[in-house]
Amino acid sequence: MYQIDIMTLFPDVVGDMLCESVLGRGQERGYIRIECHQIRDYTKNKQRQVDNYPYGGGRGAVMQADPLYNCWQHICDQAGERVHTIYMSPAGKTFTQADARRLKADYSRLILVCGHYEGIDQRFIDECVDEEISIGDFVMTGGEIPAMAVADAVCRLVPGVLSDPSCYENESHWSGTLEAPQYSRPEVWHDRAVPPILLSGNHAKVDLWRRKQSLLRTRQRRPDLYEKLAFTEKSDKKLLSELHEEYPELF
Ligand SMILES: C[S@@+](CC[C@H](N)C(=O)[O-])C[C@H]1O[C@@H](n2cnc3c(N)ncnc32)[C@H](O)[C@@H]1O
Repeated sequence: MYQIDIMTLFPDVVGDMLCESVLGRGQERGYIRIECHQIRDYTKNKQRQVDNYPYGGGRGAVMQADPLYNCWQHICDQAGERVHTIYMSPAGKTFTQADARRLKADYSRLILVCGHYEGIDQRFIDECVDEEISIGDFVMTGGEIPAMAVADAVCRLVPGVLSDPSCYENESHWSGTLEAPQYSRPEVWHDRAVPPILLSGNHAKVDLWRRKQSLLRTRQRRPDLYEKLAFTEKSDKKLLSELHEEYPELF
């Protein structure tokens, strides 16, 4: 069982979203558990206020260290140990598929902390946070959507959550490439036909076609990823020479 605890001001929204579809079934079947904790439950004031003005002046409010710490401590007490803790932050390291794999492989429980307002008191980060993760170079209102993104990407790698590892091992970013285009019924839609090779029933040829499309897409859309690929397979070298001939402008 892999457990993710999400500290948030909006536990219902986050919990509802992560109970649907694949992750919902993963929880029902006991492969994963996602628990949302209301940070306000750990305040000691009547108004359940979690934020206050920033020292030094400036706009907005900052989430105070104490309710965050009490909530975090409660989860660690429940776990019987200090749990690896991630603060969702636009100032963190940008999240990648490699991070999802690392978090799945290295831990069996995670705490994800969602900030709000202008962010959270640095002293909580210094004392309790092991890493800061951003989901991209933009700023959102709160850490809930970033936390859901990380929870989803990690949980779908837990054995049993998806029917087979091949579900994710052939997807974009698993081995540094983007996935080939996908098609479903009907064979012709709005005068657009499915590539004939996909209807041939020849699995070896389909695999080669998909690999070629995957290399082409990666070169076209993400030259930064393409540059990092190492081509050791004979079959890849053959596909590459075909691509060089067909798309000289790209290579
Ligand atoms: C309005 S933001 C605070 C931004 C902060 N004042 C700054 O400039 O870095 C409120 C919260 O949303 C979350 N957040 C916003 N953008 C994010 C991103 N790109 N990745 C992860 N979390 C993000 C963080 O938890 C943050 O505490």
